[in-house]
Amino acid sequence: MEIVEKYEKLEKVGEGTYGKVYKAQDKATGQLVALKKTRLEMDEEGIPPTALREISLLNLLSHSLYVVRLLAVEQAAKNGKPILYLVFEFLDTDLKKFMDVYKRGPNARPLPTDLVKVNFLFQLCKGVAHCHGHGVLHRDLKPQNLLVDKEKGILKIADLGLGRAFTVPMKSYTHEIVTLWYRAPEVLLGARHYSTGVDMWSVGCIFAEMVRRQPLFPGDSELQQLLHIFRLMGTPNEEQWPGVTGLRDWHEFPQWKIQSLARVVPTLEPEGIDLLSKMLQLDPANRISAKAAMEHPYFNSLDKSQF
Ligand SMILES: Nc1ncnc2c1ncn2[C@@H]1O[C@H](COP(=O)(O)OP(=O)(O)O)[C@@H](O)[C@H]1O
Ligand SMILES: [Mg+2]
Repeated sequence: MEIVEKYEKLEKVGEGTYGKVYKAQDKATGQLVALKKTRLEMDEEGIPPTALREISLLNLLSHSLYVVRLLAVEQAAKNGKPILYLVFEFLDTDLKKFMDVYKRGPNARPLPTDLVKVNFLFQLCKGVAHCHGHGVLHRDLKPQNLLVDKEKGILKIADLGLGRAFTVPMKSYTHEIVTLWYRAPEVLLGARHYSTGVDMWSVGCIFAEMVRRQPLFPGDSELQQLLHIFRLMGTPNEEQWPGVTGLRDWHEFPQWKIQSLARVVPTLEPEGIDLLSKMLQLDPANRISAKAAMEHPYFNSLDKSQF
């Protein structure tokens, strides 16, 4: 059956890196879904094996409650060119849109502490631990890529690496600049090999942003991004981060000393500050893992049996 016969397109919900994401309804079941166009192009042979491998990995990962569920893969044709659509379960909103309601300003409201800071952060760590446990890095964790089910208070990781196995594009198809705010220092410094720590850095930035209701490191270029990071976490040297001066894009930076994190997240309790500082270690080798983060005392107040 053709995709247009199967689903009724409702409104556009997102404008992603490779195309638009639509809310749609499965005509047969009534289920709401998100239709996402991929840049995976098919050749005469059908779906290329690399794409198949990525799709089956995505399918495997989506069996966690904290990763958005892949429901189906559909083929369609546009101007005679075959394209693939991924069909996901639909969620109300993403964490960026969700947090915008609570943004600082004249009508600012604090984020409901338990729900968001503790609960969402734990779910995020759990989803990330699941991906890392399957050997998959997300590489682009940011509020826009975390979906929120407001009613159930569930947070799910979305936009998992399909087709991103190669490179993260600098600009999306709408020429929107890809955000650098959540990018780990080793990536910014041009490390050739990186690991699970890149995602944990992003988790730390997202954690701080939920608490602050504004981004922690809002850099607008790779250099500005590094300067934001070093101004707070201190400029690294070989002693604190062995190998840092050998990274491809390393050069001399202004020398800053590490600042107290309490200055940027004054409302966060000491346990939270401790966890955040473990996520924002400059040397990725010292960064806390998702699994270890889940055991951190910050989550002691959380009833973990609900997960
Ligand atoms: N399953 C979904 N339910 C609801 N909204 C979604 C869903 N998937 C994506 N979106 C919305 O579309 C946006 C772009 O989707 P995403 O998967 O991140 O694609 P891209 O790779 O293009 O960034 C998201 O930021 C989110 O707002
Ligand atoms: Mg995205």
